[in-house]
Amino acid sequence: MAKGASKRMKPGVAVQRGRALRVFLTATPRHFTPRCGAGNIAGALQNNSPTTQGHPMLWIKTFHIVLIASWFASLFYLPRIFVNLAMETEPAAVKRLLIMARKLFRFMSFVAVPALACGLWLWLVVGIGSGQGWIHAKVGVVVLLIVYHAYCGVLLRTFERGENRRSHKWYRMFNELPVLGMLAAVALVVIKPF
Ligand code: HEM
Repeated sequence: MAKGASKRMKPGVAVQRGRALRVFLTATPRHFTPRCGAGNIAGALQNNSPTTQGHPMLWIKTFHIVLIASWFASLFYLPRIFVNLAMETEPAAVKRLLIMARKLFRFMSFVAVPALACGLWLWLVVGIGSGQGWIHAKVGVVVLLIVYHAYCGVLLRTFERGENRRSHKWYRMFNELPVLGMLAAVALVVIKPF
């Protein structure tokens, strides 16, 4: 037997593994039609039909919600640190707050990518919301949230250079904006008004 041949996967096993992965990553009607009794898996998933209980794609939705919650925790807290930075005059305290802000910004940038990727997967691969108005409105809200996220990075660099000229009141108002974004995004996905 050729060297390394024993490690090679048997063709049948490779096919089985490939199929399992495909089932996990995409909701192919071919796989789910017999179990769901419906070709439209995206519609069934969207309506949380009992036939989709235990569907692997629900894991993507679970990750989407958990990661979005983590992103928003940071979007709410980072501007709160800016409020403190705008009020603080003690150099040691400013230094500590800047370290916290830098770490938080890194974390929120890190979680935002998979959070949004899971949402895009539900939409573009599974097909939930395909051709419906609410998903386009939601993506519009998400673009605004990404602009807010990036602007937080700009403000952080301004604080790092010691060039902040805005008042703590301004940062308090700025801090409220992601609440509106979250309300709009969740209302659109839950109520689906159009
Ligand atoms: C690129 C951005 C995003 C896309 C493409 C996207 C897409 C989706 C899709 C297609 C679903 C499944 C909807 C359903 O099953 O009816 C979903 C679920 C959800 N999304 Fe997003 N999403 C994104 C960002 C967000 C953001 C920023 C938030 C929160 C502010 C959010 C909150 C939720 C929630 C709470 C659910 C669960 C809704 C439910 O099961 O009833 N998503 N998302």
